[in-house]
Amino acid sequence: MTIAETYARFATREVRGVSPTYDRLSLAVAGDDELLALLATLPAAKRQPNLLFGVVRLLGGPVEEPAAFHDYVVAHWPEIEAEMRARATQTNEAGRCAVLLPVLAALPQPLALLEVGASAGLCLYPDRYAYRYGDHRVGTGQPVLDCALTGAAPPARLPEVVWRAGLDLNPLDVTDPADLAWLDALIWPEHAHRRTRLRAAAAVAAADPPLLVRGDLVDDLPELAAQAPAGATLVVFHTSVLYQVPPSRRDAFAGVVRGLPGHWLANEDPEVLPHAALPEPPADAHCNVLALDGKPLAWTRGHGQAITWFG
Ligand SMILES: C[S@@+](CC[C@H](N)C(=O)[O-])C[C@H]1O[C@@H](n2cnc3c(N)ncnc32)[C@H](O)[C@@H]1O
Repeated sequence: MTIAETYARFATREVRGVSPTYDRLSLAVAGDDELLALLATLPAAKRQPNLLFGVVRLLGGPVEEPAAFHDYVVAHWPEIEAEMRARATQTNEAGRCAVLLPVLAALPQPLALLEVGASAGLCLYPDRYAYRYGDHRVGTGQPVLDCALTGAAPPARLPEVVWRAGLDLNPLDVTDPADLAWLDALIWPEHAHRRTRLRAAAAVAAADPPLLVRGDLVDDLPELAAQAPAGATLVVFHTSVLYQVPPSRRDAFAGVVRGLPGHWLANEDPEVLPHAALPEPPADAHCNVLALDGKPLAWTRGHGQAITWFG
């Protein structure tokens, strides 16, 4: 896929109907030869829309108007390039716990949670947040995560979590203002509710920090998994991570995780973690697939705002 196609696809597949600002901006970049030429000087893995837009927001640049964005990027390219080379998209969305919760709550309790690609670890607290599935409320904590659920009853309880650990190539620390600023910059412009949610989830993590280990999800997973306490159900899980992992390493990861005791819960784009047969997705919008131990169960929206169980 060319860089222009990547930006056009981001507009139509990921942000359409969810972020009009980024829809407009990514289409503009797709047709902007000067910006495309600058992006072409970066390694392929560093050219993504979310990275460029997040860095410009972090630096205080404009993302509302494509013409102003163009001028800013051209004028500040050296700083933007340095940040794009140094950073990766590490969006940490606590809202994704709302699509994990039905599975986590149904497993034998208590749980030992191990998240690979954990970023700052905000998805490691599914037992601390509250949830609203339509009129059905679960939990009393903050933030309250709204999720439209179709095709099954909502979970009746929160899971009991006795151990939580995260593995990431670059763990972020929510108590570090610079890391929090990067997580904030990665949130799409119109999503004020996600900014509020980030602050509330960061307070939960700061009050009881998770074990976050710097490492690779293939090479370092067995050692971390071995630290999980006996007597708890180990759940190795990941959401929106494998698109950042080369295909051969995805296969290696699947091999490692299948060899561990416990369960494997994946919430990933079916293009990066394919399944043999899937029903039609619920809408034109981009969806991930929730899968337990390799068995696909439901379509989920990218930030945890909806889950549609397969029939
Ligand atoms: C888009 S973020 C998703 C964070 C979190 N799972 C969530 O859903 O909010 C992807 C994370 O995966 C991490 N990652 C990418 N490749 C990895 C690897 N090979 N091993 C461990 N972590 C990795 C990145 O550093 C990043 O923090």
